Amino acid sequence: MTAASTTAVPPTRTAAALTAVGLRKSYGDKVVLDGIDLTIPEGTVFALLGPNGAGKTTTVQILSTLLPADAGQARLAGHDLVREADAVRAAIGVTGQFAAVDNLLTAEENLLLMADLHHLPRREGRRRAAELLRRFELTAVARKPVATFSGGMRRKLDLAMTLVGDPRIIFLDEPTTGLDPRSRRTMWETIRSLVADEGVTIFLTTQYLEEADQLADRIAVLDRGVLVAEGTAEELKRRIPGGHLRLRFADERRLASAADLFGTATREGEALALRIPSDGSIPALRSVLDVLESVALEAEALTVHTPDLDDVFLTLTGQAGPQKENAR
Ligand SMILES: Nc1ncnc2c1ncn2[C@@H]1O[C@H](COP(=O)(O)OP(=O)(O)O)[C@@H](O)[C@H]1O
Ligand SMILES: [Mg+2]
Repeated sequence: MTAASTTAVPPTRTAAALTAVGLRKSYGDKVVLDGIDLTIPEGTVFALLGPNGAGKTTTVQILSTLLPADAGQARLAGHDLVREADAVRAAIGVTGQFAAVDNLLTAEENLLLMADLHHLPRREGRRRAAELLRRFELTAVARKPVATFSGGMRRKLDLAMTLVGDPRIIFLDEPTTGLDPRSRRTMWETIRSLVADEGVTIFLTTQYLEEADQLADRIAVLDRGVLVAEGTAEELKRRIPGGHLRLRFADERRLASAADLFGTATREGEALALRIPSDGSIPALRSVLDVLESVALEAEALTVHTPDLDDVFLTLTGQAGPQKENAR
């Protein structure tokens, strides 16, 4: 008898909640998405960052089965976007850029309507609605018509309605656009707790660099239908010129010796500090420390300065970040 073949079992990897390859969409001559590839691991937050008109909503509509792509494939929660569209719909929740709540109904009625749409038994629907009202701190206003709600409350209700169906992947299209800073922070906390408590995967779009930085494990920058960069906030920041290491020394003599060692360094004003252009990576740090060590020169402090996401956007797209453009 021959021994069974010993095919190596690949190491277990975190399953992808969403993969997309080559997504394209045009309206007439206008190319809106020009070949988008995405991979989003389960239980993570992904941010699609881009200015108005970049193609964010179109991407969300395609991935949530609301709009057919012209080309490309995608799998969500293990199901093919096109061939298994019903299974995909059952696994996802979508909150649109414009809240889909019915203004004439109360918060509770909106939630019960959603429970009906998901064919939840009546009692289960009531339980779920009550639980979500509690979770989003809307219990006190549960019987008030939504027309009386603030923008922040409406967004919360919109998200609560999405959760009635217990989705594994949640699309949030510009969840905080138009919200005041306090409501924005509340929404951020809600999104974070969803991921922490329920292990859901979040696909969010945003025009706010800070929002992507705050929430996302990975960020993709979309500019006129093309992904111009992808990575963690830190990775994106490192790709951008302007990052530097700052070395502070105890006295003028040490500072002068260090300045001689690093040709690209510049003195920082009157401070006993030196700036060395750097991507802030570990190897770059190590090489600077090695040079200092080799001549037994001690620095008082070393700090890494990375540029912010506005700089990232400017460098990647040649345009000011959307936040700056829209600054009022
Ligand atoms: N139904 C449509 N018909 C024609 N053009 C459209 C349609 N929907 C979107 N677009 C165009 O596609 C581009 C991307 O739109 P969209 O995905 O809404 O961008 P974003 O959400 O990033 O602001 C825009 O230029 C928009 O005008
Ligand atoms: Mg949009």
